[in-house]
Amino acid sequence: MTALTVSEAIQQRGSVRAYTDQAVSRETIEEILELARWVPSNGNLQPWKVHVLTGDKKKQLSDAVFAKMGDQPQGEETDVRIYPKGVTDPWRARRTQCGETMYTALGIEREDKMGRLMQVARNFAFFDAPVGMIFTVDKSMVEQQYLDVGILLQSIMLLAQERGLSTCPQAAWSMWPETIRKTLCLPDSDRVVVGLAMGYVKEGDKAAHIQQQRVSLQEYVSLHGFD
Ligand SMILES: Cc1cc2nc3c(=O)[nH]c(=O)nc-3n(C[C@H](O)[C@H](O)[C@H](O)COP(=O)(O)O)c2cc1C
Repeated sequence: MTALTVSEAIQQRGSVRAYTDQAVSRETIEEILELARWVPSNGNLQPWKVHVLTGDKKKQLSDAVFAKMGDQPQGEETDVRIYPKGVTDPWRARRTQCGETMYTALGIEREDKMGRLMQVARNFAFFDAPVGMIFTVDKSMVEQQYLDVGILLQSIMLLAQERGLSTCPQAAWSMWPETIRKTLCLPDSDRVVVGLAMGYVKEGDKAAHIQQQRVSLQEYVSLHGFD
């Protein structure tokens, strides 16, 4: 295992959208999730459930979504809102920039609507990663518990990074809550929050390392009461 510091893991992690077919061992997955049990949550509610998919089960979920995508390109009614309605600047501009950076790296033109749709669809194959995860919370949970899920998600990504694995968090999966519940036999009370692809990066692929920008420290931090 590569001994990364937390700082290195944070710097080296990036959303990877191209994977080799090299399997990830059950032991590695369990080790990551065993360590991730120790993440904090408000009131120690540990409000999450993590559904880990591989092999036929993963394919079954992808197939179920692909079977519906043609008729329902917008997906199903979501359990959680993915973006604010009519998102405004500066967030709108950042989202546009993010999309443009990705599509430019992939060589997909703005006018190539089908190409862009196909890239969205890649989400539902977990970008061919050997492992996919779906994160759910009970429908009684409120906003603070979704923060807890975010903390869990990033911790899993960093633990994966430490083990030479790559990841891509995927809000896209929240577009298919009914299909996910049906395929994974989840109760109606389970809300689908986010997905995660995990596996070994396919070096050399255009979708392997897409570098996204960040706003500066000055733009997002206000220091109060310092000299
Ligand atoms: C909660 C969350 C959901 C995301 N959903 C998707 C997604 O559905 N599909 C995708 O390709 N990338 C998704 N991303 C990746 C973001 O686009 C990416 O994190 C951002 O552009 C910064 O790039 P980086 O992760 O490579 O540093 C998601 C990221 C987060 C944190």
